[in-house]
Amino acid sequence: MPVYAVTGASGHLGRFAVKSLLARGVSPSEVVAVVRTPGKAADLAARGVQVREADYSRPETLGSALAGADRLLLVSGNEPGQRVVHHTNVIGAARMVGVSRIVFTSMLNADHTTSPVACDYQDSERVLREAGVPFTLLRNGLYMERYTDHLSEYLEAGEIMGAAGNGRISAASRQEYAAAAAAAILQDEKGNRTYELGGPAFGLPELARVISEVTGAKVTYRDLPAHEYAHALWRVGLDKATARFVAAVDASIARGELETSSADLTNLLGRATTGLTEVVRAAHAG
Ligand SMILES: NC(=O)c1ccc[n+]([C@@H]2O[C@H](COP(=O)([O-])OP(=O)(O)OC[C@H]3O[C@@H](n4cnc5c(N)ncnc54)[C@H](OP(=O)(O)O)[C@@H]3O)[C@@H](O)[C@H]2O)c1
Repeated sequence: MPVYAVTGASGHLGRFAVKSLLARGVSPSEVVAVVRTPGKAADLAARGVQVREADYSRPETLGSALAGADRLLLVSGNEPGQRVVHHTNVIGAARMVGVSRIVFTSMLNADHTTSPVACDYQDSERVLREAGVPFTLLRNGLYMERYTDHLSEYLEAGEIMGAAGNGRISAASRQEYAAAAAAAILQDEKGNRTYELGGPAFGLPELARVISEVTGAKVTYRDLPAHEYAHALWRVGLDKATARFVAAVDASIARGELETSSADLTNLLGRATTGLTEVVRAAHAG
């Protein structure tokens, strides 16, 4: 049986992906959870998953962590300015140990979006193409948690602030992207595949309306120019770089770059993605 390695398995997406593989009947002994801090994956080790230590920034740790793996889910790194180096290190190690397929979590519309992190994903996809190992690109849309994690703040303020204009967002939960990743890595694909992944698109005015309906509290959407939104985020405590980044993602949404009409997520999941009302209801129920 193939051995599946999952990086970032101590994080949200990677952990959900490991659990999805187990839920689909993969034996824990055939799953390798690659983590920087093994203690963070004690729950997975307790289930019989092989937990191996590696750091994307230390190439010497990656070969032994990936040894014996047939297929790899490379969960993208989160260190600004280092992502391409980190991904290059993992891809190089996977190639050296003979991994037969690399499944990489990229970003939605990576080849034509102008989002602030797009370059990192474009360069990483290029490295993957040049490595010569068959690959699957999971171009994930925004995480729904980008919004649901702030539900209590929206309710307290009575508004959602943003700079997304009338742009629409094809978001889905990490759990759904992870389930799709598990489905993708289990597939016996030939050649390279690219999936554009996202849930049913919504705009922020619609999100505000749905939150109002679900909670019974009035929440509206206030649209600001991107620079004003960044300033407002800074005033409520974000550092300047993060505030600018968040506002730039909204500007990208306003340009329609984080929307897709692709049914790839539904197809990989084998069911409809969770609708906005249901997502908000679940977040409100806690
Ligand atoms: N689509 C979206 O809206 C969106 C939003 C945010 C992020 N992302 C991307 O999606 C990825 C997964 O999301 P997530 O929510 O699961 O993030 P997360 O919970 O922060 O998990 C990131 C994982 O990457 C691991 N990692 C980071 N740097 C590493 C390194 N140098 N060596 C080895 N492991 C390293 C972390 O290990 P530790 O536990 O040791 O820190 C953690 O397991 C993020 O890393 C980011 O690239 C996408």
